[in-house]
Amino acid sequence: MIVIFSGAGLSAESGIPTYRDTGGVWEKYNMEEVATPLAWMQNRKLVLDFHAEDFEYMQKCQPNAAHLAIAELANHVDVVCITQNIDTLLEKAGVKDIWHIHGRIDYQKCEWHFDIPPMYSDWQCDYKSLINEPVKLGDLCPKCGKHLRPDVVWFGEAVDMHVDDLYRIQNQVDVFIVVGTSAQVYPAANLLKFFQNVPRKYFIDPDPNTELLDGFTLLKGKATKYLPALVESLKEELA
Ligand code: OAD
Ligand code: ZN
Repeated sequence: MIVIFSGAGLSAESGIPTYRDTGGVWEKYNMEEVATPLAWMQNRKLVLDFHAEDFEYMQKCQPNAAHLAIAELANHVDVVCITQNIDTLLEKAGVKDIWHIHGRIDYQKCEWHFDIPPMYSDWQCDYKSLINEPVKLGDLCPKCGKHLRPDVVWFGEAVDMHVDDLYRIQNQVDVFIVVGTSAQVYPAANLLKFFQNVPRKYFIDPDPNTELLDGFTLLKGKATKYLPALVESLKEELA
């Protein structure tokens, strides 16, 4: 089995800006004003406008050669994609097994939808649905009447790391590929530790955080350059 852990760099060549590079999202926006629960409480309109912009351009973007290479690989071997990306370019490329640990821009959920243990389920509303247009101010939950919000994870919120699934696959992983992430955001970045004993590990990034590279073969460059090439060699090897 091959696990591919991706970040914004995977979609950069589809025209989606990364977060922390020069010209990235967090240069243009103050993260605390648009992507935290407190921001939502203080100024819903600003938070919704930020996500609406993401929704509009992410809908228009197309998968690049790296997404398509992953889809091709998945035709030959078991591939699990764990992505921090809220775009759906892996889906558009035809990849099936994708864990969106930071949510998806094309879903909305009730603002009262929390990732909390079932014993507290009286305190939440589980409404969630696919959307064709971004969430607007005044869009209310059809189930409980509270406000709707995008189904993305904000800073300070719980992340569903699919822990049961992680333990299920941990010992079956032959190759671990990390692509296009600064791995600065936790708990997502813990995956590098979790899969540290996988026999073969590759890190694809033009400007990687060098502290993270222990045990990895570094492919220093863009995702569209190295993923298709890596997929070809893995396919040959596995054929
Ligand atoms: P970052 O913006 O932190 O890191 C992007 C990484 O992609 C950097 O290491 C770049 O060098 C690399 N990169 C840039 N262009 C690339 C290319 N063409 N091919 C390959 N790599 C390239 O983005 P993430 O690590 O994804 O959180 O950020 C993690 C989280 O922080 C995001 O999911 C988002 C953000 O705040 C939420 O939305 C919750
Ligand atoms: Zn609700």
